Amino acid sequence: MYETIQILHSYLAYIALAVLLFAVANAITGLVGKRIFNMNKDLRLSLFALILCHIQLLIGLILYIISPNGFSAIQEFGMGGLTSAARLLAVEHPTVNILAIVAITIGWSRHKKFVEGDKKFKSIAIFYGIGLLLILSRIPWNQWF
Ligand code: HEM
Repeated sequence: MYETIQILHSYLAYIALAVLLFAVANAITGLVGKRIFNMNKDLRLSLFALILCHIQLLIGLILYIISPNGFSAIQEFGMGGLTSAARLLAVEHPTVNILAIVAITIGWSRHKKFVEGDKKFKSIAIFYGIGLLLILSRIPWNQWF
């Protein structure tokens, strides 16, 4: 069970990050190129990125409960007893990723309020961009590759 969820979280990370990156790049080019916000392409891409991040969040929360590197590590060693690598997995990665997904969700909600395409693109570019940077800042790179 633990291995399956870990593998799922590990592989979905590639897809979620790729789609998120694509959504940010699309919003930036849309803003800079003054494109019309297309309800098919632009909206679907942003929504797809949001959904993938939320699925990754759900799997991450399950992993946090069942993994020996998640909450169990804090219970076993205490906050002060964690090495920096263990703290990354048990504290920094989950906390920062939750904040990142909050930022992405805010970006999605804000973009819906606007009618103008440039404001929609701007909301996605800024909030999804912040989310992407936060996620990238706390990926356990050594363990992933
Ligand atoms: C979009 C958001 C996220 C991305 C892209 C992501 C990505 C990753 C990656 C690449 C790993 C390393 C996987 C491996 O060892 O092959 C990992 C591990 C882990 N993630 Fe996430 N994650 C995200 C969100 C979360 C959240 C929100 C939580 C918890 C609330 C979480 C909990 C964990 C835990 C506990 C591990 C360590 C698993 C283990 O080694 O047992 N992740 N994550």
